[in-house]
Amino acid sequence: MEHAPVKEVKLPPIRNGTVIDHISCGQALNVMKILGVNENNIDSSISIGIHVSSGKGMEWKDIVKIEDRELDSKTVDKIALIAPEATISIIRDFYVAEKYTVRLDDHVVGLAKCSNPNCITNRGEPVSPEFSVIGRNPPQLRCCYCNRMLTNISDNLL
Ligand SMILES: Nc1ncnc2c1ncn2[C@@H]1O[C@H](COP(=O)(O)OP(=O)(O)OP(=O)(O)O)[C@@H](O)[C@H]1O
Ligand SMILES: [Mg+2]
Ligand SMILES: [Zn+2]
Repeated sequence: MEHAPVKEVKLPPIRNGTVIDHISCGQALNVMKILGVNENNIDSSISIGIHVSSGKGMEWKDIVKIEDRELDSKTVDKIALIAPEATISIIRDFYVAEKYTVRLDDHVVGLAKCSNPNCITNRGEPVSPEFSVIGRNPPQLRCCYCNRMLTNISDNLL
């Protein structure tokens, strides 16, 4: 007997909150890190889907649904650095009230630090870390000051 294709993994619906969908596969826990949720400050339900069907052909994605929280723009900009195709849906009274795709600018300022300890941005000078986006999926960032590639973006987010 053939199995019916699973169209979309069901996570519980939320009344109010935010859905971060179309997260690059494997990045959901890094998104959680950006959200800054931990055992001391968790105060609403969160559902996480890792490696779930995107519903689009054979593609896989991660998804995070967080109740009673909306995201500030800096948080969304950080998510774009690890999940450039993520969509942010704001749920109000069970409906999608707003929806947009994260945006990765050509220049990233003040969101991540350079991994080169000798970089001017890491030497106590009043210089904000700044990167050029030279690849988009996956994002690839190059430091504007020392030219080093940022090899592990999620470990260097500010
Ligand atoms: N009440 C809700 N509770 C939890 N998640 C919801 C709720 N309403 C919508 N969503 C989720 O919000 C996201 C955006 O909803 P939308 O209806 O635009 O989905 P979609 O048609 O599958 O869009 P897409 O093309 O982006 O996959 C989806 O991940 C959907 O599962
Ligand atoms: Mg969908
Ligand atoms: Zn640098």
